[in-house]
Amino acid sequence: MVKLPEEVFALLNDQKAAKVLGTRSSNNDVHIINVGGSGAIDHETLFVGEIFMRKTSDNLKLAQKEKSKVALLVSQGFKSYEVKASVKDYQTSGPVFDKMAAVFKSMKFDLKGLWLLHVEEVWNESPTFDAGKKMA
Ligand SMILES: Cc1cc2nc3c(=O)[nH]c(=O)nc-3n(C[C@H](O)[C@H](O)[C@H](O)COP(=O)(O)O)c2cc1C
Repeated sequence: MVKLPEEVFALLNDQKAAKVLGTRSSNNDVHIINVGGSGAIDHETLFVGEIFMRKTSDNLKLAQKEKSKVALLVSQGFKSYEVKASVKDYQTSGPVFDKMAAVFKSMKFDLKGLWLLHVEEVWNESPTFDAGKKMA
């Protein structure tokens, strides 16, 4: 079972870190968007808040259906990590959704849905000698 290393878990939950989600469409085009409303629920699960997304939402549905991976790049300064993940669930109700919806509401964002991703691989993308190496 792949677990997020502590430094990656911490950066994913740092509001100041930049987070970019990469998905693939049915015609194989790559699509990337900023996902400030994302993070790690635990060391095996990422969440991404669906607030404005349309194309990404379709691509996440496709990844869930095809059991293919999406990628979330989290970066701050010279720290950068890529987490490859499978799509576990899409929630629009329930205790986890309700808790997240309240957090988003406090920032004046309307949470349409909550994507839950299962961590599959973690790669170091920082500009160091460990660049491009698999961490987990
Ligand atoms: C800093 C920043 C953070 C963002 N965070 C989110 C987010 O958490 N969720 C979201 O749905 N869109 C977010 N957006 C908007 C997306 O980048 C994107 O424009 C929108 O979701 C439409 O995606 P689509 O082209 O896949 O339909 C953010 C944009 C910026 C600039």
